[in-house]
Amino acid sequence: MKGFTWGVATSAYQIEGAVAEGGRGPSIWDTFSHTPGRTTNGETGDVACDHYHRLTEDLDALADLGVDAYRFSVAWPRIQPTGSGAANQEGIDFYRRLVDGLRDRGITPFITLYHWDLPQALEDLGGWRSRDTSHRFADYAGILARALGDAEPKWITFNEPYCSAITSYAEGRHAPGAREGHGALAAAHHLMLGHGLAVRALRAASTAEVGITLNMSPAVPVTDSPADAAAAQRQDLLVNRLFTDPVLGGVYPEQAAELFGDITDFSFLRDGDLDAISAPIDFLGVNYYYRIHVRDAPIERGGDRTAYQIGVVSDTPEHLPKTWLGWPIEPIGLHATLTGLRSRFPNLPPIYVTENGFTDDGSTLEDTERIDFIASHLAAIEQATADGVEVNGYFYWSMWDNFEWARGYAPRFGLVHVDYETQVRTPKASYAWFQERIRSRRSDP
Ligand code: NOJ
Repeated sequence: MKGFTWGVATSAYQIEGAVAEGGRGPSIWDTFSHTPGRTTNGETGDVACDHYHRLTEDLDALADLGVDAYRFSVAWPRIQPTGSGAANQEGIDFYRRLVDGLRDRGITPFITLYHWDLPQALEDLGGWRSRDTSHRFADYAGILARALGDAEPKWITFNEPYCSAITSYAEGRHAPGAREGHGALAAAHHLMLGHGLAVRALRAASTAEVGITLNMSPAVPVTDSPADAAAAQRQDLLVNRLFTDPVLGGVYPEQAAELFGDITDFSFLRDGDLDAISAPIDFLGVNYYYRIHVRDAPIERGGDRTAYQIGVVSDTPEHLPKTWLGWPIEPIGLHATLTGLRSRFPNLPPIYVTENGFTDDGSTLEDTERIDFIASHLAAIEQATADGVEVNGYFYWSMWDNFEWARGYAPRFGLVHVDYETQVRTPKASYAWFQERIRSRRSDP
């Protein structure tokens, strides 16, 4: 794996803390996590890993690990506290220090522009249901390109637009916690449009490469019945193809309209949008965690019907090994994702696996299961490479244990353990293993 980029990933709200400092405005995750009943034990990102105040220590740890690249996100409300208008210099300064600190240590910044923390003021105006938010996002992208573009980062417009649309506006499990049908589909489209407009804005002001990160989960039927096969196809449409097809192919899947049943108003889709959305990108980021095992299920009619009710339930077979969050461990799904993209999209750009990670409860620093998890997924990437897919790098999620959204702090993904009482960071066995894996790359075939 010569020339391969080794990295780790994080996101702003999950590690930074300091939510009321440096002129930062509130985001939808501040509102959501402070609303009773939304997160486990009412936990919030108010302090998280206190990364905002521990930047130098954290940068030194990344250098010690030996990564080539570090993927982090910029908190939009630090740059534009209300989501529009002039840039907040203190916010820019923080990320400038971060980017310069990485470059000083020989680490390439992979900057995600949007990792779920929409300024609350924009949500109050409709959030991603509103087309205006796509334009606000493009303005914000332009600000970042002008402020940080000279450091030649790799830009990632969005992280997992599926989650920002469906988990957030249909399922209500993520901020802003809405349970809507039409609103969620409009959100999906406006996120995609925001991506396309941001690609333009980034290219206008920066020569750095641009991509987007999609979460991909192959859907497999639990039986060979035609009903379960059809259910798996619906799941694939919603999770994967609703996002891959417009970005990489310039179309929405034909079956999408049918998928959403009684939602018939697609007026949010305008002439020219798909051209913007499918503007060429330099790389595709893929986040892979698990396959979804799908069973056909009746759709509940009437009442609270939401867009995500596509007549499927997830039914993970008992015998599969699972992480602490119950996610099945199946590296074959990563191989299938990579080779599937390669066969479906003739113009597929090079891929970075921008996330892949394992959870436990943090009770041991001898996390051999995490090591096995990473090793088996790297082997899947090597296999996909041998099968002709251009995979340029791998980012483990995450460098540090952090705030796992609605699930709070209990699930631990880190190579480094964080004691949230003292903020002491302690490397786990997987850290030393990953460090050695990176160091030994020179002897790779
Ligand atoms: C995907 C998200 O990008 C990240 O924020 C999250 O913590 C991990 N998956 C694990 O769920």
